[in-house]
Amino acid sequence: MTEFAQRVEQVSISGIREVFEAAGDDAINLGIGQPDFPTPAHARRGAIEAIENDQADAYTSNKGTRSLREAIAATYDREYGLEIDPEDIIATSGGSEALHLVLEAHVDPGQDVIFPDPGFVSYDALTHIADGTPKPVPLRDDLTLDPATVEEAITDDTAAFVVNSPANPTGAVQSEADMREFARIADEHDVLCVSDEVYERIVFEGTHHPPLEFAESDNVVTVSACSKTYSMTGWRLGWVTGSNRRIERMLRVHQYGQACASAPAQYAAEAALTGPQDPVEEMVAAFERRRDVVLDGLEDAGLEVPSPEGAFYVMPKVPEGWCDEVLDRGVIVVPGDAFGANGQGYARLSYATGMEELKAALEIIDDATRAVR
Ligand SMILES: Cc1ncc(COP(=O)(O)O)c(C=O)c1O
Repeated sequence: MTEFAQRVEQVSISGIREVFEAAGDDAINLGIGQPDFPTPAHARRGAIEAIENDQADAYTSNKGTRSLREAIAATYDREYGLEIDPEDIIATSGGSEALHLVLEAHVDPGQDVIFPDPGFVSYDALTHIADGTPKPVPLRDDLTLDPATVEEAITDDTAAFVVNSPANPTGAVQSEADMREFARIADEHDVLCVSDEVYERIVFEGTHHPPLEFAESDNVVTVSACSKTYSMTGWRLGWVTGSNRRIERMLRVHQYGQACASAPAQYAAEAALTGPQDPVEEMVAAFERRRDVVLDGLEDAGLEVPSPEGAFYVMPKVPEGWCDEVLDRGVIVVPGDAFGANGQGYARLSYATGMEELKAALEIIDDATRAVR
């Protein structure tokens, strides 16, 4: 009998789904990882026009249409003054596929991948799928990743380390100084820094600095997507950029596993990136207002909560039994240990939910917190 491959036996379905399944139909959902805004009209129109003009029926180039890759390159120039050759970009099926390509192309069996714990659930799973060994590392008290922790964890067996800022599940934003350090570590230790920047535009305080700005070698690859910035999670359009030799290796995986990203989604993404950016600014302003309300509510309930500076998540420290109590009262939150062992004692709340629902949820949370204290 054909048994299952070890690499998939080591991966389990995300703990987030279990929470959703346990909740009632009328629960307030603070578990969701996608913006509650529509995709901008001009992005939708980009896809519709491409379909109507017969441009979206066929395979595109494996890396994606030249015009999309030019739009992505122009965005790096506009946002960060970074010059990227459109030939060094692969359009992917979301940031998820981009992360998969990076690890498949760079991790040999048994090599370590260092990533934040708590951290986005895919880092552990995709490391297993690449036959690598996950090496989760703890965060600082403010829930940012200390470059020194990463540097100490590096050995001769390390293939890569992952930096994610702004971060899921913490909302933490790494400082410019940290990003400089991550670039230095990648250069000096000759290990790959995988910078997951899917929340790059959702920043409330400070500025996002890609480690790519500071690297002297080609040891940084950058993953991003339209998913969060333009509320396009369902379109499945992301990308990876890196040096040409790295992109050519990742293309081997992408070419055979995916061929190309969905053509209509590529046209929508191009329109999103090149069109007016006000929908992004409005969404970020709404997230910031909600963040402030959520922080106040959690602090009033007596919870200790690091102030998130980006994305749309907040991660308070919670007493034993808190997540179950909150869930029983009809609010979905994700227990911190769904994001790694060090997430124990925390919970992730997403505020990609309307203000009225958030306020109702905060009242329930206040009662639930008193009940478990
Ligand atoms: C940190 C992080 N990276 C990558 C992704 C994947 O994004 P996409 O929907 O573009 O595949 C997510 C999605 O939640 C995420 O939170």
